Amino acid sequence: MRTFFRKNAVATLLTGVAVLFLGTALAEENYLPGAIIANGKKIYMEGKGDSVPACMTCHGANGWGMEALAAPRLAGIGFPYVVKQLSDLAGGKRVPSGAGAVMLVYAGALSEQERRDVAGYVNTLTGPAELSDLKELKDSGTVIGERYLGQAIVKYGVLGKVSACSSCHGFNGRGAAPLFPVIGQQKYTYLVNQLNNWRDESRNNDPYAMMRKMAKNLTDADIVNLATYLSSAPTTTGGNSVVPTTTQ
Ligand code: HEC
Ligand code: HEC
Repeated sequence: MRTFFRKNAVATLLTGVAVLFLGTALAEENYLPGAIIANGKKIYMEGKGDSVPACMTCHGANGWGMEALAAPRLAGIGFPYVVKQLSDLAGGKRVPSGAGAVMLVYAGALSEQERRDVAGYVNTLTGPAELSDLKELKDSGTVIGERYLGQAIVKYGVLGKVSACSSCHGFNGRGAAPLFPVIGQQKYTYLVNQLNNWRDESRNNDPYAMMRKMAKNLTDADIVNLATYLSSAPTTTGGNSVVPTTTQ
């Protein structure tokens, strides 16, 4: 028993060191601030030429996503994280299916600077939460889980199988930049989709397969319970998310 704990402690420590190292490396190499917010706003609100429609048509005027399209909230989920996703989408490292497949084309049609600009802009959207309407979803036949069971996994994990989500994503999933996005108050359908995608590995752009390792031990019920809690998680303070320096 004692050896088990010691081994685990060493493993945890090593993961911690690896994460710290990776975080620093990413921040230094690719994710330096320097977003031009006004330009990002223009792309978000109006699109770019003929190739990219306004992001707001699917992600909402205030960046809170759109349940019907399974389009995620982008408002304030983390500047470095959004930059990484847009570059993963542009480079084919993240390949969404369904309505999200269009993201490959849109992200690819933006320059690196424009991706940074639009990521900077959505990070400034700090308006009031527009949460998923779980009752409406349920009435229209979507399976909704048990909120308290989801909360237990977020806080404590599943013994021996799944780490507490909050150990990486922060209290109530409020995010911990640069690596760990905000998952609290994310859209319900999007959360369910992503957890399924991590589990079947159709999404595999997570550093060190961190999410694939977590998701492989989640049951279908765990996934809907988690999405139920997270999509309706209470508002918290911002935690230690990094706010980038930006130029207007
Ligand atoms: C036609 C609808 C549509 C439009 C327009 C659109 N998106 Fe998306 N976007 C989606 C959907 C759906 C997904 C979810 C993809 C998935 O399931 O993996 C998504 C995913 C994303 C993600 C990943 C977010 C995360 O939490 O990992 C980012 C970032 C993003 N979009 C940014 C943008 C930007 C910037 C624009 C404008 C240039 C844009 N989107 C335009 C539908 C759209
Ligand atoms: C060991 C650290 C770690 C743990 C524990 C962890 N995650 Fe993650 N998670 C990550 C990382 C890193 C990413 C970002 C992956 C990327 O860069 O694409 C992520 C991304 C996600 C996303 C995608 C968010 C988006 O906007 O697309 C969801 C959803 C998610 N995690 C849910 C969970 C849930 C639910 C749990 C608990 C069962 C959990 N995570 C536990 C590290 C972790």
